[in-house]
Amino acid sequence: MAIKEVLKMGDPRLLRVAEPVTEFGTSELQQTVDDMLDTMIALKGAGIAAPQIGINLRIVIFGFEHNPRYPDVPPIPLTVLINPLIVFQTEETAEAWEGCLSVPGMRGLVPRVRCIKYSGRDTQGHTIERTVADFHARVVQHECDHLDGVLYPQRIRDLTKFGFIEALEAAGLIPSIPKETNPGNKGNL
Ligand code: NI
Repeated sequence: MAIKEVLKMGDPRLLRVAEPVTEFGTSELQQTVDDMLDTMIALKGAGIAAPQIGINLRIVIFGFEHNPRYPDVPPIPLTVLINPLIVFQTEETAEAWEGCLSVPGMRGLVPRVRCIKYSGRDTQGHTIERTVADFHARVVQHECDHLDGVLYPQRIRDLTKFGFIEALEAAGLIPSIPKETNPGNKGNL
């Protein structure tokens, strides 16, 4: 078990374009994926990308069962996606609040394409392909942005809709979570 330090916005390593994985089924790849998983679980995130732990490879992990921050959102299966490719299925976008482990304590209102087809590989090199919508599509777009050096604040259209969780909760802009069910970083992607 290795929980890694998550790089924070401002660190230039988050702004790089990550390199494709070329070898599958290796112990190094499994180690990287295990470290990402341990870190995501320890920080109660809903997703993480390899560059966030300083590894410049095109690997993302996402998934959750129940998220108190988004109680109406259906679960997303825990997925390791390597060398992902996204194809937009519509031009329609929707806005929703996002957080990120690299931007702790904050949320911003981000437009994302509502329906996408994504493909990529698992750690053994097997193909994964899914067509998804709404929050699932949002999570994948957020994580894949990390592989191109893009953080969600760069996607916000109206910077008046970007702020600290406590202040946004107090203003009624995001739902306030009772302390006993506080998801911590659960809303972070
Ligand atoms: Ni993120």
